[in-house]
Amino acid sequence: VSLTGPIPVGTGTDHEDRRDGSPRLAIATLVDIATGLAAAEDLWRPHVSHDPLSRTSVRLVATPAYEVWLLGWTQGQGVDLHDHGGADAAFVVLDGELTELTLHDTGIDTVRLRAGAVGTVPAGAVHDVVNRTGAPATSIHVYADPLRSMTFYDADGTPTFTELVEEVPALVSWDRSARALHPAARGPG
Ligand SMILES: [Fe+2]
Repeated sequence: VSLTGPIPVGTGTDHEDRRDGSPRLAIATLVDIATGLAAAEDLWRPHVSHDPLSRTSVRLVATPAYEVWLLGWTQGQGVDLHDHGGADAAFVVLDGELTELTLHDTGIDTVRLRAGAVGTVPAGAVHDVVNRTGAPATSIHVYADPLRSMTFYDADGTPTFTELVEEVPALVSWDRSARALHPAARGPG
């Protein structure tokens, strides 16, 4: 992402392979992972938190191909317009209601997402997510490749700064998340 010139917004990018030549996961697969984990409530519910002072985020699952974050939002909390540094993303609202704002050439689209609703964010898209309700909201977000940076933007699409995302330890093991996503494989017999 150029930090000096105007950027094409809302167009996404062509599907890019990963640096080692392996294909990146498709957004439809990210939706499957997000909704599959959303259904595994015992996996994420213990890690839900809400803080009126700031949005909460925990890294739930980390793999070389994708990673999963669990976010908690109280009234008025949001992100500001940002991209995902070349990652595709999908997210599911678990509790409450979130509003997604997506920047296009023609302006900003606004979508209200209630519990169970899915959002997708192709690489290159610029969006914001905000809790505009009085009740706490919780959401699960899947990124492929894993999220390493976010660039923030003004409302006219001008990049303002880039934030690096710290690789903090994930709370749930690959093993546990894989079992949650493939319940038919849960144990012999
Ligand atoms: Fe985002």
